[in-house]
Parts: sequence; structure tokens; C-alpha cells
Amino acid sequence: MAKDRRKYDIRPDDMQRINTPALADKFIDEQVEAIREQVGSDRVLLALSGGVDSSVVAALLIKAIGKQLVSVHVNNGLLRKGEPEQVIDVFRNKMDADLIYVDATDRFLDKLAGVEDPEKKRKFIGDEFINIFAEEAKKLEGIKFLAQGTIYPDILESIKGIKSHHNDGGLPDDLKFELVEPVKLLYKDEVREVGRALGLPSSMVDRQPFPGPGLGVRCIGAITRDRLEAVRESDAILREEFALAGLDKKVWQYFTVVPDIKSTGIKNDKRAWEWPCIIRAVNSVDAMTAEIEEIPYSLLKKLCDRITHEVPGINRVLYDLSPKPTGTIEWE
Ligand code: XMP
Repeated sequence: MAKDRRKYDIRPDDMQRINTPALADKFIDEQVEAIREQVGSDRVLLALSGGVDSSVVAALLIKAIGKQLVSVHVNNGLLRKGEPEQVIDVFRNKMDADLIYVDATDRFLDKLAGVEDPEKKRKFIGDEFINIFAEEAKKLEGIKFLAQGTIYPDILESIKGIKSHHNDGGLPDDLKFELVEPVKLLYKDEVREVGRALGLPSSMVDRQPFPGPGLGVRCIGAITRDRLEAVRESDAILREEFALAGLDKKVWQYFTVVPDIKSTGIKNDKRAWEWPCIIRAVNSVDAMTAEIEEIPYSLLKKLCDRITHEVPGINRVLYDLSPKPTGTIEWE
């Protein structure tokens, strides 16, 4: 423990919780100064997924050093509908960031073709991301720093030995950079508060948890493009309907899953041999356990109607009633 305490930064006991816009502004001012002092006139690289942590780090660095920050957004083909577009719109168009957008959909989906095992899928997705990010990093000149959206729970998990924290982004040895981790002592709610104060949209700052392997772990078994599209489209409908019903502010995590099985149905008076779509909506505090959200029946009916009529390949909709345990939140 003593060794770990030296290795990782520890949040001081008296550090004030950032829970107001004024405290967030103060934190931003301090960090802008600290970042400028740390990086001087050098360039900084960031893998910008569009998740809360990397988005807040990007916005903070853009404020501090503008175009000395180079952000790389890799579209692995497993993102939710509209996500890459939002990253480009917010960071390139609105914040004038130096953003490299890599559409690596084909690379990922070709690599994943035929891979059924969930752990293999996760590994392939993680490894391919590092390959692509390293390739982009090698093309750039004069990068001295790597910015990361490490947050305090990541550090706590590393100290407790629960999860190894990729301090270096997992990059190969010839691409070791000095780290810039401006939110590493913050809890998630504080990162969100800072994001709001930096002017990031609520759809980015207040978003639900989303797994690194993305929709890949919701397209059960070997991923095919048509079934992945069914996951993406049904997820978009679920998110739209939850927002209309105000459930997006209430429910902790909600998504759709499409397993690799088919059943007989009827569409346009013809036999339809298609997949079912499973809706999952859970409430949790720390993801260790989860309870089911009691979605109103009228909304379930509407979701069923929209998904079966609007999403090609889906002829049934099911609601997963399993809490965690016995289910995990994701299906893979
Ligand atoms: P489970 O399925 O284990 O999920 O009950 C708990 C929480 O973790 C998320 N999750 C992941 N996040 N990489 C991630 O970054 C992953 O491989 C992964 N698997 C699950 C899940 O969405 C839920 O919030």
C-alpha cells in the first residue's frame, strides 16, 4: 500500500468537492495555468472517445493550449448512432480543435468477423484501437505529452488492485509520452460539473455509462454488419423515446441487445424470419448490482411498435427483467 501511495496521486482529505459552477470555474482556472506550465510550447496528444472524461479533458486542454492539443477520434464502427458526428461538431466545428477523425469501421469489423467469444471480441477491439492510435501518433511531429481522462475512481481501483490502470494508454515503448491528467483527482460528478462549466452539451456531459467495446458487446456472438445496424437503430429509438418520456434523466443505463437467433414472424403478410431485440434498463450506483427500471407498459408498447416497424431485421421486442445478480448489466 505504501508503495502504491507513492506511485499514485492521492486526493487530499481536505480537497473541496466540486459541486457548483463557481467551484468548477475555479478548478478550470487553476488547471489551465497548471497545464500551460507543464506543457510549455510543446504538443499534446489525446485519444478522444467522446465519453465524459476524455471530452472534458479535451475541452480543458483546448482552453489552456488551443491547437497545441491534437485529438484523435477513432470510429471503431461500434459507436452509437450520431456519436462521431457529435464529436466532430462539438470539437472541430464549435471549439475549433485540431481533431483527427479516423473512420476505422472496416478495419474493426473485418477483424471481428466470425469472432464469437466475448473476451476475444473485447481483446480484438482494445488491441486494434491501440494499433490505430499508435499509427496516428507516429505520423505526428513534435508530440511530447499524452493527455488522458484518468479520474479518481481509476486511481482507487489501481491502488486496490482491482483493475490495472493503463498509465501510458497501452502505447508501445517507442511511443512513451509524459502524461497530462488534469482530472485525475476528481470523481465522476465533479468531472461532469467541470464539463458543464466548460460549455460542453448535456448530451455529452450527462450521458449514461457506455462500455469501451461499445455496441460490439450488445451484438451477441459473431458481429455482422446488418445485426450491428439493428442494435444501433434500436438503441437510437430507445434513447429518443426515453428522452421524450424524461426517463433519460432518471434511469442509470439503458440500451438494446440483439442476439444471434431468429424466430418466425409476419411482416406485410409474409413470413419474417428475423431477430428479437431485447431492451435493458437498469438503475445502479456503482454497477456492482443493478435493479430493473419499471418502464410504463404504454412506453414498452410504443417501443415494440417502433422497433419492429422501423428497424430492419427485428420482428419481436422483449424486456429483460433480470437484476444484477443474476444477470450482468451487459449481455456479454
Ligand atoms: P456488467 O455487464 O459487468 O457491467 O454488469 C457493469 C458496467 O460496466 C460496463 N462495462 C464495460 N465498460 N469496458 C468498459 O469500459 C467493458 O468491457 C465493459 N463491460 C461492461 C457496463 O456498461 C456497465 O455500466
